[in-house]
Amino acid sequence: MRTFPKDFLWGASTSAYQVEGGWDQDGKEPSVQDIRDPFPNTTDFKVSVDHYNKYKEDIKLFKELGLKAYRFSIAWTRVLPYGKVNEAGLKFYDDLINELIANDIQPIPTVFHFDLPASLQENGGWGNRDTIDAFVDYCQLLFDRYGDRVTYWQTINEQNMLVFAGRVLDGGTATWKSIFQGNHHMLVAQAKAMKVYHEGNYVGKIGPAPNIACVYPKTEKPEDMLAAEYMSAFRNWLFLDAAVYGVYNHMAMRILKSIDAVPEITEEDRIVMKENTADFIAFNYYNSMTVSAPAETGSEQSKDQQSGFSIEGFFKSEKNEHLKTTEFANWPIDPTGLRVTANQIYDRYRLPLLITENGLGQEDTMTEDGKIHDQYRIDYLDAHIEQMRLSIEDGVEFLGYCPWSAIDLISTHEGFRKRYGFVYVNRDDFDLKDLSRHKKDSFFWFQNVIKNNGLD
Ligand code: BG6
Repeated sequence: MRTFPKDFLWGASTSAYQVEGGWDQDGKEPSVQDIRDPFPNTTDFKVSVDHYNKYKEDIKLFKELGLKAYRFSIAWTRVLPYGKVNEAGLKFYDDLINELIANDIQPIPTVFHFDLPASLQENGGWGNRDTIDAFVDYCQLLFDRYGDRVTYWQTINEQNMLVFAGRVLDGGTATWKSIFQGNHHMLVAQAKAMKVYHEGNYVGKIGPAPNIACVYPKTEKPEDMLAAEYMSAFRNWLFLDAAVYGVYNHMAMRILKSIDAVPEITEEDRIVMKENTADFIAFNYYNSMTVSAPAETGSEQSKDQQSGFSIEGFFKSEKNEHLKTTEFANWPIDPTGLRVTANQIYDRYRLPLLITENGLGQEDTMTEDGKIHDQYRIDYLDAHIEQMRLSIEDGVEFLGYCPWSAIDLISTHEGFRKRYGFVYVNRDDFDLKDLSRHKKDSFFWFQNVIKNNGLD
């Protein structure tokens, strides 16, 4: 029988630019997502599912679903457009947070989820050291405004995917060198934000939200094992070691040297990172990775956030023959990998874990009587919940589980066809229809899971 802690946070997730719409409403500045060209045959982010205007209706559904927590992100561009405080933007998140609390749903905000203000990007984005201070000012504003009502803050969503799949996410063409300088600025910005938070004596906790995936060796060859360790260090531990221990992972640093991407790190950076670290770890899990020792081949970039990649001389991405894959993009489906991943993270850091994303993107169809039979999504989530439960039995401390996504939203680069939500939204990529909301089969299934505290 499944058991979960009594106060386990059964939640669900979204991010601002993928769900809100209202892209220029009430003084909002465009973000990098608004100014780039949409991917071929996909919609832009201008309307999305109009959560900005329909958040009350959506929270009513979240309440009916039984959510104990809602993980969402705040749009920097709403609250600080062009670096100026925007009361209308601040008020939106005040109202959202208050509405959640009034419905007994704990707000779990992410400070930054892939949507840098366009004006900062024009000044060099994360490559410009000044963005560190801009981020810290932004965080201070959020902590002061909402800190009394938030228990768990996440700093940056999937910083590692901004690095490895950044070209996909913002259409950039940067070199490894400039990418890892920007990455370093993000790590310092995160440490400084944690400093401000801890020194401000706000009531809650703060942590990072990377995408973490365990890495398997393709065979039992020692060289493949070493390759797996290298990929894990580069893809996973670089980001968590920095956030939790305040240092650069040594194996990741070896790769950075080899690809000529060691960033400039000042003494002050080292101190600020070392002294300001995370209280808990939020992470997103969709799939595992598999690698072998590199052959003579060169490096290969990641196609998207969940796909493998190769680094010459260290590891080569491989297909895992033992795993089925998703219809979209062929991501491996690996519930056991979640248990492996959770145990690895807990073993290294001994901090409580919160899953902030996990889910299946699939094309859903609404039947004539308005039903959405998404058994495939139920199967995916059910198998992952079971492995999370087993990792709790292993001894991992879990705070909660917030699958992706609470409601249909726009995929990062595959438009509206690829749906993740418990709630279906009636629109297509190029036809907004009536944006009406409909409960999928997975809605009723998850409602039951929550009602029974995980019991299937
Ligand atoms: C994560 C992101 O990488 O995966 C989300 O944090 C994203 O923003 C999710 O939507 C699923 O990926 P995709 O590409 O299918 O939208």
